Amino acid sequence: MARYSRTEGTIALITLSNPPVNALGAAVRRTITDIMHRALTDGEVKAVVLCGENGTFCAGADIREFGKPPSGPALVPLIHDMEASEKPVVAAIEGVALGGGLEIALGCHYRIAHAKARLGFPEVMLGLIPGAGGSQRLPRLIGIPAALELITTGRLVSAQEALKLGIVDQVVDGNTIETAVKFALNVIGVCRPLLSRRLSERTPAFSVDAAAVLEEGMARVKQRARGAFAPVVCVQALRAAATLPYSRGMETEEQLINMLIDSSQARALQYCFFAQRNARKWSLPSGARWNNSKPRAVHRVGVVGLGTMGRGITVSLVKAGISVVAVEMEEKQMDLGMRAVLGMLERDAQRRGDTRPPTHLLTFTLSLQQLGNVDLVIEAVFEDMALKKRLFTELCNVCKPSTLLCTNTSGLDVDALAVVTHRRSLVVGMHFFAPANVMKLLEVVCGPHSSAEAVATAMTLGKRLGKVGVVVGNCPGFVGNRMMKLYLDQAYFLLEEGAAPEQVDQVLEEFGFTMGIFKVSDLSGLDVGWRVRKASGLIGPDVNPKTPSRWRQGCRYSPLPDLLCEQGHLGQKSGRGWYLYETPGGKEPKPDPAMHRFLQEYRSRYGLTPRHVHAHEVIERCTYAMANEGFRILEEGIAARAEDIDVIYVFGYGWPRHRGGPMFHAAQVGLATVLQRLEHYHQLHPDVPHLQPSPLLQRLVEAGSPPVHHWREHVQHLHSHL
Ligand code: 3HC
Repeated sequence: MARYSRTEGTIALITLSNPPVNALGAAVRRTITDIMHRALTDGEVKAVVLCGENGTFCAGADIREFGKPPSGPALVPLIHDMEASEKPVVAAIEGVALGGGLEIALGCHYRIAHAKARLGFPEVMLGLIPGAGGSQRLPRLIGIPAALELITTGRLVSAQEALKLGIVDQVVDGNTIETAVKFALNVIGVCRPLLSRRLSERTPAFSVDAAAVLEEGMARVKQRARGAFAPVVCVQALRAAATLPYSRGMETEEQLINMLIDSSQARALQYCFFAQRNARKWSLPSGARWNNSKPRAVHRVGVVGLGTMGRGITVSLVKAGISVVAVEMEEKQMDLGMRAVLGMLERDAQRRGDTRPPTHLLTFTLSLQQLGNVDLVIEAVFEDMALKKRLFTELCNVCKPSTLLCTNTSGLDVDALAVVTHRRSLVVGMHFFAPANVMKLLEVVCGPHSSAEAVATAMTLGKRLGKVGVVVGNCPGFVGNRMMKLYLDQAYFLLEEGAAPEQVDQVLEEFGFTMGIFKVSDLSGLDVGWRVRKASGLIGPDVNPKTPSRWRQGCRYSPLPDLLCEQGHLGQKSGRGWYLYETPGGKEPKPDPAMHRFLQEYRSRYGLTPRHVHAHEVIERCTYAMANEGFRILEEGIAARAEDIDVIYVFGYGWPRHRGGPMFHAAQVGLATVLQRLEHYHQLHPDVPHLQPSPLLQRLVEAGSPPVHHWREHVQHLHSHL
């Protein structure tokens, strides 16, 4: 948990030892409290150096202990005793000093950091504030404005930035612990009063009017928080630091963290933390798993298609240092694509202060033949199955036999592509999200023939690109878009029943979504879904002309988006969609009076009597419909765990992280309530089969609504796709 040793005769070296990240669990806190006491009371010890084992100082409190009854000694008294000591205490920071880890370091009198170390207070990402004096000591060290930014965003800083800010005293390239020991020897007995190094004794360094900074900070945080409490509470803690003596500030910090620690938002955010990490631990029915499957080396990647997706994927790969051969079929398209990619890389380099973007890694070509030597291809052409099949057949002839063939399709059948190749086991889906160089999510779609090696390679490549990869099974829309379809359907139905697009969006944004569904639809372009609906036979010549407009494939259908597309209202790109924009390509959505008239006419044409739609109905119908489909996805083995579904929604669809994801949200609302509300809505809308509660949801309620990580035990896989 922590080791004590003596070095240079008079220096006590305390080494935190709790792999993998030296988290401060109860046993660790107990051990360092004891060891620190021993060091501080041992007459032969003149100074203390605190470090962490295996190149990691400390990642803070043990998150697994949150939500459990408290045990072991608290951090605050330990930090207080250390800081109050007359013996200098020096922190030797390697790897990370985060949360409680940084709070311990701030209680030390001096801080030496390795050049590659990162420091910060990520508590806000867990629904918390720094709760062991961090909110009171950091502003006393670096001033209110800088502390406000770091604590409310959770941003980590490099050692160099920490030095500039004054968080650390020295940055070293070599051996941090040796340097810290030398440093400690230098400060022993030297007439350097420790008093000035005790942050609790300082008054916050105000360089500007703190009240104004805090007020402005609060306004900014509230606007960005989308309903999350913790960032707002962080500002309150900083206000206490700015206005109260240290001891009173600490009392306030304690009250504030106690208010957050058991909140549903903190639970949701901590759930997300582990869900994101668990998504990496994929397994297949064959027994192949993340830790027994070897990925192939990927040095060179081919990207076919330089539309929006292909461009973003290319930028992402090049930024990760991977050589890319980008192929387009037409010269004009290639020219446009090339300029867009180079522009994005240029802007990115400027932002990071680099002089040259890594363009040497790029080859643009009109010939597929140039893909002979790539290790992996990502196909990003139009969502047209015939086109994709032709391409995959050709790729098979062009690429070396070991090349993995990946498709970026957002929902077409990966298996149908695999079977046209002679290398079915090397075909997987790599479904990126637009803009692909920004969005974190990657769905890795495992078809029935995909090998463990192919899945491992796609997941490892995703990690290199900084993506959060989730392995999913093959079905129309996979996980994300399959659930999205039902979410969209509910939103269209709500318009038919009386709501306006801006009303639905406002409710969803107040719930915490980054953007309302209709704004998202305008941004991505209404023609995207239109093309998919045509391809799946919901509209077009294949539909029997006698079929009623609001009825397709045995259930209720809303032709609203099709009608808009027919009028050329495709969203932002055409200047009009669900909203009105100043010009085509405009970004500012405005409620459109013509849309309201259009909806009125539509309702009267179909004899629909508009009614007032309450906010709670918008939320319930949209989110419960999604979760209900999520249960079906689990039952079919398209997703391995409810956590995976939630990770997909948080990282790919703007679902508010502080609500955990659609499945976690359903659990927090209460599965019995969700079931009862779905039954209610299904009774009102029997022509919408997806509102009928799924069998898994019903079984879970019968089983007493177990917590999310136990749902798996109730899944009856008839045929798992994973
Ligand atoms: N508590 C418990 N487990 C932790 C942990 C923590 N603080 N930090 C990381 N872990 C676990 C992870 O769950 C993972 O476990 P697994 O291997 O079983 O999946 C393992 O350590 C390795 O973590 P990562 O996979 O994330 O490894 P990376 O190298 O990518 O990242 C990291 C390392 C930067 C330390 C990252 O894990 C991280 O950001 N951790 C969270 C840090 C944090 O939020 N600290 C604040 C805690 S709250 C606090 O301190 C309150 C205080 O104010 C009192």
